[in-house]
Amino acid sequence: MLLKRLTTIFLYCVILQVLSVAAVPFDSSATFEDNSSPTLNQENCGQRNYQGNFTADSRLFEHPWLARFGYNRNGNVTYLFQGALIHELFVVTTVFATKFNDYGPLTYIRLGEFNSSTDRDCQIIKSRDGETCAPPTQDIAVDVIIVHPMYDAYEQVNNIALVQLSKPAKITPPAVLPICINQNVEPEAALLLVASWCGRRETGLSQIPKQYIMVHKAPRQCRELLKGYSLTQDDNMFCVVLDSRYKSPTNSNLEPNLRGSTGAPVVTTQFDNRIFLVGLLSYGPRYPAKFEEPYIITSVAPYYDWMLSTIESVIARIREEV
Ligand SMILES: *[C@@H]1O[C@H](CO)[C@@H](O)[C@H](O)[C@H]1NC(C)=O
Ligand SMILES: *[C@@H]1O[C@H](CO)[C@@H](O)[C@H](O)[C@H]1NC(C)=O
Ligand SMILES: *[C@@H]1O[C@H](CO)[C@@H](O)[C@H](O)[C@H]1NC(C)=O
Repeated sequence: MLLKRLTTIFLYCVILQVLSVAAVPFDSSATFEDNSSPTLNQENCGQRNYQGNFTADSRLFEHPWLARFGYNRNGNVTYLFQGALIHELFVVTTVFATKFNDYGPLTYIRLGEFNSSTDRDCQIIKSRDGETCAPPTQDIAVDVIIVHPMYDAYEQVNNIALVQLSKPAKITPPAVLPICINQNVEPEAALLLVASWCGRRETGLSQIPKQYIMVHKAPRQCRELLKGYSLTQDDNMFCVVLDSRYKSPTNSNLEPNLRGSTGAPVVTTQFDNRIFLVGLLSYGPRYPAKFEEPYIITSVAPYYDWMLSTIESVIARIREEV
């Protein structure tokens, strides 16, 4: 039997934003923090700005680590796909998002983005006074893309890459802040939330990031739900479906669709007020996915040491050059 391969949750037809980006001036005042602070999972990582339930429409400052990718063809920059800021110089994402080339190579990382239709993001936040506005987004040129050395496109394993920025991001909480990285949570036990700009072809990608609770599925259930697909699931991947609360009994067009979610962070909460990165949305069924069809997530915990040593060696090299 010929098995279909899972796709990379890509969008084939919509160009959402075609923007020209002015040259970003180099900020020579940006320097590294003192040596004593840890490289990853620094003290203020993953600060949660909203308590209580997660609404399907994310709110301003709810995902300050969400980084949007700018693909540049002759000065025209198309923003889609995403990753997570884990360090002032690094974003983690899937390999596919870094190699995607339909709109030109990945050239910019945009941080502090919320509503992709506005230049300046503002929102009325109940707990604060009046309207709160975010600082301008930061568009930072990509310096190096570091694909995991054991990435295998055919087996669809080790689908993780680091994007090194050409200069450190300005960490401006609550607008821009690295996420904490999970090192031990078992996904089956955790609340899982995926955050991304996504949506159906007919409606286009959402203007603001959507966030949906996902439910873990055991490998055997996952295979049953994905009959007809060839599926590799090594220990570094897990399987999720959308929580049934989003299922519409009457109109399936109202149900979420994760088209566009390549590289999206899958996160959990810890210690009540922190958000931890658990995985990256890696593969899914062909569009339009049925509501019950699962998605394959790459866990980040098994790659923590790789990320840490890679980032530390880059930083050591930069320090030597200075
Ligand atoms: C949070 O979600 C629960 C369960 O869906 C619901 O009962 C509760 O009213 C919600 N709380 C708020 C503040 O919306
Ligand atoms: C950029 O895109 C616009 C609109 O699609 C097009 O008119 C223009 O020729 C493009 N510019 C370059 C340099 O490709
Ligand atoms: C995004 O900004 C546009 C333009 O200001 C506005 O019309 C739209 O309502 C905003 N979307 C959301 C979901 O806030």
